[in-house]
Amino acid sequence: MKPKIVVFTGAGISAESGIKTFRDSGGLWENYQIEQVATPEGWARNPKLVLDFYNQRRIQANNAEPNKGHLALVTLEEKYDVHIITQNVDNLHERAGSSKITHLHGELTKSRSSLEPSLIYDVRGNFLNMGDLCELGSQLRPHIVWFGEAVPEMSRAIDIMQNVDVFIVIGTSMQVYPAASLMDYVSNNTAIYVIDPDAPRVRTNNIEYITEKASLGVPKMVAQLLKKV
Ligand code: APR
Repeated sequence: MKPKIVVFTGAGISAESGIKTFRDSGGLWENYQIEQVATPEGWARNPKLVLDFYNQRRIQANNAEPNKGHLALVTLEEKYDVHIITQNVDNLHERAGSSKITHLHGELTKSRSSLEPSLIYDVRGNFLNMGDLCELGSQLRPHIVWFGEAVPEMSRAIDIMQNVDVFIVIGTSMQVYPAASLMDYVSNNTAIYVIDPDAPRVRTNNIEYITEKASLGVPKMVAQLLKKV
């Protein structure tokens, strides 16, 4: 059986693909107030603004390409059972070729019913518009976990955290919960790597910090891990 690796990624892994991270944008997110575009209250107040915002994010993500960080993780699968748990809503891990991916905060390429959350659809192309309806006749919303909403994929992510040999954290400030609490499910004998130029000091023991950008740090770490087995 291959050793098990869980890779927990955040906005930093996609930064070099041209997608801005959240916490270095000074309270604004691509010039929008986060409360207006990424909360249920914002959606209730002005759904068109929210759809326009995510249409722009979708255009940006669809035009971006996976970088060396995303690509290096794919080669890890040669020798490891690799599970990616990402906070990112882009699909750059999928497009790089990783096979097991859990999106904690939703996916830009999907929409869902604003009435019945289990009704989830693919967004064809870049745009989700006012008047695009689910089969029950209600407006479709972006399939994104907004601030203040539950994180339905969290229980699946916690299951994945069982019996992990290596836990790798890439490009996340570890400030958003419950996602950041995945770290609490790592056992004492799990090796931990953190790759981030401005690495959050999440714990003191057992961690190897690689304070580099993902495009450099991830291939280095992957080469190291591939040599071990
Ligand atoms: N390579 C690796 N890490 C990088 C790079 C890079 N090239 N550039 C920046 N970083 C790091 C930053 O140092 C920071 O620690 O990426 C991290 C980005 O942190 P955030 O912007 O807070 O992003 P993230 O942790 O993914 O945010 C979590 O917050 O708004 C929500 O739902 C949204 O999923 C998101 C969540």
